[in-house]
Formats: sequence, structure tokens, C-alpha cells
Amino acid sequence: MLPHWSTFKLLGLKSSLVKCMPVSLYSTTEKGKRTLFKYQNNLPSLPVPSLDQTLTLYKRAIIPFYPLGREDTFYQNYCKVIDNFKEVEGPELQKRLSHFAEGKRNWLSTIWDNYAYLGYREPVSPFVSYFFSHKNLNTEIGKDQLMKSAALSHRVINFMSKIEHETLEPELIKGSPFCMESFKWMFNNCRVPGLPSDTTIKFSPQKNRFMIVISNGYFYKVYHHDLNTGERFSLGQLYASISAVHNNSHQKPRCSNPIGILTASNRDVWATNYKHLCDNPLNKISLEQIQSASFVLCLDDNFPTTIAEKSVDCWYGNGYNRWFDKPVQLFVAKNASSSFLGEHSRMDGTPTLRMNDWIIKQISKMSVTEFHDEKKTAPQYTELVFEVDPFIQSQIQKEKKAFKQVTESLSINVWQFHGFGKEEIKAYGMSPDAFVQMLIQLAYYKYTGTVRPTYESASTRMYFKGRTETCRSVSEESLQFVRDWENTSKSGAEKIASLRSAINSHVRYVKVASKGLGVDRHLLGLTKMLRDGEKIPDIFKNPMYTYSQHWFLSTSQLSSNEFNGYGWSPVVPEGFGLAYMINPHWLHVNITAFKNNPLGLNPDYMAFYLTESIQELKEILSKSVIRAKI
Ligand SMILES: *[C@@H]1O[C@H](CO)[C@@H](O)[C@H](O)[C@H]1NC(C)=O
Ligand SMILES: *[C@@H]1O[C@H](CO)[C@@H](O)[C@H](O)[C@H]1NC(C)=O
Ligand SMILES: *[C@@H]1O[C@H](CO)[C@@H](O)[C@H](O)[C@H]1NC(C)=O
Ligand SMILES: *[C@@H]1O[C@H](CO)[C@@H](O)[C@H](O)[C@H]1NC(C)=O
Repeated sequence: MLPHWSTFKLLGLKSSLVKCMPVSLYSTTEKGKRTLFKYQNNLPSLPVPSLDQTLTLYKRAIIPFYPLGREDTFYQNYCKVIDNFKEVEGPELQKRLSHFAEGKRNWLSTIWDNYAYLGYREPVSPFVSYFFSHKNLNTEIGKDQLMKSAALSHRVINFMSKIEHETLEPELIKGSPFCMESFKWMFNNCRVPGLPSDTTIKFSPQKNRFMIVISNGYFYKVYHHDLNTGERFSLGQLYASISAVHNNSHQKPRCSNPIGILTASNRDVWATNYKHLCDNPLNKISLEQIQSASFVLCLDDNFPTTIAEKSVDCWYGNGYNRWFDKPVQLFVAKNASSSFLGEHSRMDGTPTLRMNDWIIKQISKMSVTEFHDEKKTAPQYTELVFEVDPFIQSQIQKEKKAFKQVTESLSINVWQFHGFGKEEIKAYGMSPDAFVQMLIQLAYYKYTGTVRPTYESASTRMYFKGRTETCRSVSEESLQFVRDWENTSKSGAEKIASLRSAINSHVRYVKVASKGLGVDRHLLGLTKMLRDGEKIPDIFKNPMYTYSQHWFLSTSQLSSNEFNGYGWSPVVPEGFGLAYMINPHWLHVNITAFKNNPLGLNPDYMAFYLTESIQELKEILSKSVIRAKI
């Protein structure tokens, strides 16, 4: 039986966020037309791929993982199983899936949110959430914790207002509109722990005109709009409120029972504790304030300086001055170093990337005079009260230990290579993204002597509510490329021919995946069509089915000049998390792994092989071009 996930509750608002909102609630006049969702109705629905095309692609994608490739007996046997599925169980499951998809603009969305996020039980940080570390701003504002906090908050509220008024420009990629749906879940939204699965709750932005500031482990509700007039508060006013909160929280010893640490737990544990907390009506009210707040700002007391320190700080920080369930969480350290962490369940990285990119550009142009405000009123905040009973107290202490254990098990290396970037790659007529994917394949092959299932996320935002599809980066061509590259009998020209062929194959897969015609989401959909007690078809029981989705390398590209770091954790114990940025003339890869990696892999060694690979690629490419010119 297919579960019906009614996980999503829209509180205080009808179907569309803004359309039903009385205009009088607009506090500040936003210039511009309502444009954010103007293409939404025209976006195509996510298609259900044909069984034939998915199985053909699948058969091809798994070849590199058999020692003898196409000739491997195990491969040939599995192909028979796959062909059998195509004739026997496949058509019925496909029929059910098509039926399920009927009338839905995105058949995958609830299945995916639940499968990939809400049903996932490991702690969201560090395992699911993603971070951006902001570039330093060497202005007066950029060096002062409280000014920077006020500036960030003020611009985030601007951005929020653009969403509320729909004046934000929709995104077009190569002329085609991208789905803007997930912008609706950015603010006044929260993940809520539950058993067996979490939910997310969306609250009315108009009824909840405040943010949460966490400082010294204490939680404060800080208004960003005047409740009486509906006016948005000025920068000066926000600064006064945030400063007062900072002051208030530091007149007390550091919170001895910081409730925030509970959000860093395993989700089952958190769900149980959450339920217990809610039994106390006072706590329940405080929790609802956090959930309904626009976003969270954390004032930290540390001084992260190196890129690695900054990354750790935004990835999981101290664990307690945080609320990991919010989709938008900003941190400002004592030395004004700032960053962002996103809870992933309703949103992928691109919308928040856009927001962060925009606010950092904005702040770099701000001046201190903007903080002056004659009309300033008294600081507008209230502290949230939590009554911590002995049970919760013991849970907090337990979670502090668990958090330490989890975060100490991760290791990180940041790899950067200057003098070779997007422009240089394009000059060789290659796709920069595919090039970096092949660079990663080569480094991993040099390190381990093999290729392993690799995930690259491809955006399907051309469809309504589209999120991602897996691009399987390992292909027969990519395997041939890494083998040829390491083969001393091959000439430079042959090596480059293999590289080009691997890149072309990768580009083809990305195109197919972006059209929603990849393998992974369709096969997932088919498994979800199985009814209770029905026999699982052999295609899904074959070890290669599981193995080929065991993402030893989890990769994704996001590039912004405004960040000096971003990343996430590996998704499997043996794996690497590889977050890369392709800048005009330099490359950056953030490498994370577990310290007790069962394969003994180490991010420092991966970084070493990335350097070796890029140097060889650079050298052989430059020689080949000179030869071509002669
Ligand atoms: C912060 O606290 C100190 C000491 O209690 C007080 O003198 C000062 O005025 C406060 N500052 C703000 C901005 O509230
Ligand atoms: C990489 O990750 C580390 C640790 O999480 C972080 O400090 C750093 O900023 C990240 N760097 C980049 C460039 O993504
Ligand atoms: C704090 O961060 C700033 C800006 O992010 C950096 O330039 C500075 O070196 C850091 N200072 C300390 C004391 O760590
Ligand atoms: C290396 O290349 C040569 C020449 O193309 C080929 O005969 C040989 O099989 C290759 N070796 C490996 C290990 O792929």
C-alpha cells in the first residue's frame, strides 16, 4: 500500500502564500510587479519516464562496476533479470505509477521529501544540512559582530519581503523558467521531529513578524516589524534590539541547559524529547515561537579565522547555540565572521545560495550611517522560557556527548587550485562541470585504483516543484578515461581523446537527468508502487541495485564569488562529501569524510591526488594545444 504522506500543514494561510493576503498588511511598499511566480502555471509537469528508456540507461550505468564490464557473467545475468522485469512486473508497476501521477504536476515531490529527508533519522547536522561561509567584508560593519548581525538580518528581511510581495525576479536558465516554488518554504517554516517521520510546518509570515536570536544558549524573540503600525523596523532599531539581546544573554552565565542541542540529535531521539517538552504548556508555546519565526540568527562567542574553522563553525558549531530545524539559520561570531546553514527538507541549495549571495553583496555596499535612526524605540524582544525538568536535563547532557562524538568523527580538507578555472576549461572547449567531475574521478582512481558509484545532483527545476535527479557520474567512458590516463602506453592525444569522450558522456547524462529522465527517481517511484505483502521483484533484490546507489562520492557544484566555503558531509560511511566551486580562474573542493572510514580513506590524500590530477591535466592539455597549433 502506498503511504499517504499528509506531512505538510499550512497554518494560517490558504493555498497560495500571498494571493490571499490582504494588501493592508503590507508594511512597506515594495516597488515592482508581482513577478516571482509568474511562470509557475506554465511550468511543465514532471514526466514519468518510459520503462524502456530507464532500464536501458540503468543497464548502461552499472557496467563500470563489474570487473569484466559488459563481458562479466554477473552483468549478463543481471541484464536477464532486468529484461525479465521489463516484461513481467515492470509494466504493472509502471501502470500504477502513471495512474498515481495522473493529475499531479509533480508525482515525485511527496515521495521524495519523505524518502530523502523527512523519514531520514540521522541528525540533520552534520549529515543533511548544507552551509555557506560568507566572504569576509573588510568594512567597519564587517568587523563588528552586532552591526553585522543587524545588517544581515535587515537584508534577509528585505529578501523575505521580496518573496512575500512576489517582486523577486524568477530565475531563467538559458531562457527557460525555473520553478520558484521552494522560495515559499524559506521563511516562517520549520521541520518538526516526529515518529516515524518528521513533518514541516509553514506559518503565516504576516502573523509572525519576528525572528529568533540565540545568544549564550538562550532564545529570544526579536520583532522586525512594529506590531502596532505594521511598519518594518529600521536597521538602527534592529541593531538596538540585537544589542540588547546580546547584553541580556551575557549578563547571565552560559545557559546550563541549552535546549538547542536537542535539535542536533538523531531524529527518533529528538522526536521523543520533543513530545516530552510539549507536555509542558509553557515549553510548547516557546517551541511554537521558534517554529513560526521568520528565521534564526545565532550570536556566537568564538573567533573562527581559518577557512576550516569557519566551515566547522557553520556546519555544526558548538551544537547548542543553534536550532537545526530551521531552513534559514545565520551565524555571526564574535569577530563578525558570518555564515549560513540550511535545513534541507523543503529546499535545495540554489534558492538560499541566491539569497546569501544577494545579502553579502548588499552588505558590502552598506555604510554605518544607515544605522542612525532618530525614531528608534526601546529594544523589541522577549526571552523564550523553557522549563527544563530532570528528564530533559539528562537528555541535554547526553546529547552534548553524542554531538561531540559525531562531530569528532568527521574530518575535512579544503582543496584549492589557483590558475586553472572555468575560463581555462572553456578555452579547451570543455564543460567546466563535467571537467571537474572527471578530475574527481581521476583523483579517486589514482588514490584507490578503482571507480565507485558517484552522485552529482542535477537540478530538475524546469518542472513544477522540481528538485533534483541523480546524475551518475561514472560511465564506461569515464572508466576508460581514468584507465587510459594512468596507462603509460597511451599518448597525450589519446588521453585527451578519452577525456573528451568521458566529458561528452557526462554532459549527456546531466541533460537527461535535468529533464527528469534519469534512472534513480523513476526506479524509486516504481518501488513505491509495490503494495503491502507483494513480492519484491528480483531487479531490486540484486546486490548491484543497492551498490550502484551507495554514493561513495557525493558531489555537487555551487559557485559564488561571495563565499569562501560551502559543503556537507559524506552520505555513506566509506564515502567522501565533495562540494566544489568553479571560479573563473580557480577551483575549490571541500572534502569531508569520516575519520573511521571503513576503507581507510583520508581527505588529505584525496586532496593530494586532486592536485596531482589537475597538474597532469593542465600540462597535457597545454601541450596538446601547442601541438595542434603547429
Ligand atoms: C548592557 O548592559 C550594561 C550593563 O548592565 C549596561 O550598562 C548597558 O547600557 C547595556 N547596553 C545595552 C545596549 O543595552
Ligand atoms: C570546506 O569545509 C570546511 C569544513 O566544513 C569549511 O571550513 C570550509 O569553509 C569549506 N570550504 C569550502 C571552500 O567550501
Ligand atoms: C575573525 O574573522 C575575521 C573576519 O571573518 C578575520 O579576518 C579575523 O582574522 C578573525 N579574527 C580572529 C581574532 O579570529
Ligand atoms: C594500455 O594501453 C595499451 C595500448 O593502447 C593497451 O594495449 C593496454 O591494454 C593498456 N593497458 C591497460 C592496463 O589498460
